[in-house]
Amino acid sequence: MTTDEITDLLTEAYTDELETVMNYLSNAIVLDGIHAEEVKASLEEDIQEELDHAQILGERLKQLDESPPGSEQFQAKQHSLQPPEDTTDVQSVIEGVLEAENDAIETYRSLIEAAEDANDPVTEDVAVTILTDEEAHRTEFRGFQKEFPMD
Ligand SMILES: [Fe+2]
Ligand SMILES: [Fe+2]
Repeated sequence: MTTDEITDLLTEAYTDELETVMNYLSNAIVLDGIHAEEVKASLEEDIQEELDHAQILGERLKQLDESPPGSEQFQAKQHSLQPPEDTTDVQSVIEGVLEAENDAIETYRSLIEAAEDANDPVTEDVAVTILTDEEAHRTEFRGFQKEFPMD
């Protein structure tokens, strides 16, 4: 059975994924320098995965007789992922990505819990599948963080 908590979390996750797509896309375009190349390539790969996540979440909302939101309901919150003024500041993007991935991981963990409580194994499966991708993204950017230590 579905609950308001489940549809709220699905909706929140859906808009978060789309904000992530926007910021990964912009950062993949703006970063400059030799050190940026690997990070840009990784962001480019993740853009498609995050878009796929939004699609899976939107389809689950539809199955639960809800609609995914349009842009008028959108509220930006990824302050740390805004493209840096200094386009060689790869570190700030790495930090922003880690914050976004940690946020996503928290949301999917909450969704798994809510789905478990509501005996909704299909939503739980969606959340587990996406959580697996987000943990892989976080691991990759933790690797970049080691390469570019913050001072
Ligand atoms: Fe995602
Ligand atoms: Fe991700």
